[in-house]
Amino acid sequence: MSRIAYVNGRYLPMRNATVHVEDRGYQFGDGVYEVCEVRGGRLIDERRHLDRLKRSLAELRIRPPMSPAALGVVLREVIARNRIGYGIVYLQITRGVARRDHGFPAPEVRPSVVVTARPLNSARNEALAAAGIAVVSVPDNRWGRVDIKTIGLLPNVLARQAAIEQGARDAWFVDKDGTVTEGASSNAWIVTQASTIVTRPADHGILSGITRTVVLEAIKAQGLAVEERAFTLEEAYAAREAFVTAASQIVLPVVRIDGRLIGDGKPGPVATALRREFHRYAESGCA
Ligand code: PDD
Repeated sequence: MSRIAYVNGRYLPMRNATVHVEDRGYQFGDGVYEVCEVRGGRLIDERRHLDRLKRSLAELRIRPPMSPAALGVVLREVIARNRIGYGIVYLQITRGVARRDHGFPAPEVRPSVVVTARPLNSARNEALAAAGIAVVSVPDNRWGRVDIKTIGLLPNVLARQAAIEQGARDAWFVDKDGTVTEGASSNAWIVTQASTIVTRPADHGILSGITRTVVLEAIKAQGLAVEERAFTLEEAYAAREAFVTAASQIVLPVVRIDGRLIGDGKPGPVATALRREFHRYAESGCA
């Protein structure tokens, strides 16, 4: 079965799913995106993802090309046409097509909308979570507005590649104060020796992850001790547990940072329980 993508109003086989060479996403990274989990053929946390998308568009002053309800219809159609049971759906909106010029096109052009989906391998992801992952630290050399989910991800790409080349799965960005900001495509968490769960506040230094928001709700509902504050790399090395959160992987235990074992080097009980219980707190849409 050929994969189907949505491109500006049409559902097309992947090989015909193309955008213009002067799309501003292609030339300037001038656009935003969302990645949602699909589980049992249903979109997870659609409302929260579309709310964040609205904010990202507003921050870049890109006019929303369609309503959240219409976008939801397209997301579900792409999921159905690709017969995704478990996987992810990717939504990208750019400022549109115009002759290359840094300033916004005048008059305004129609934003470009692309949606794709792909299945994930559940057994493989569960095996990864059961083993835990290794991460490496890299200097956070990104711009000051990483709270906007833009498609300009070059530092994240280079960080992830650095991790891969060191045999690790993810990279943790560390700012000039020595504190961990977030992962290359995830939010970073630790559990201290005193069993307090710590993650950085969602200020301009990180992307406010939807998974992070839901995990915080789960933690609070269960009455676990939590602190939203910056933590240093040294604190992470000495933590009892560490983990990352992202829509594509939910909660993934981290067992090694820069080659140092975290805790006993096995996924910890807090991360494991949060992963197991995540979907009790997430919103699952209609099929
Ligand atoms: N990444 N921080 C960064 C830099 C991210 O790219 C992501 C998500 C997150 C977690 O956000 P959420 O929980 O809403 O997925 C945090 C997606 C999955 C990606 O780029 O593929």
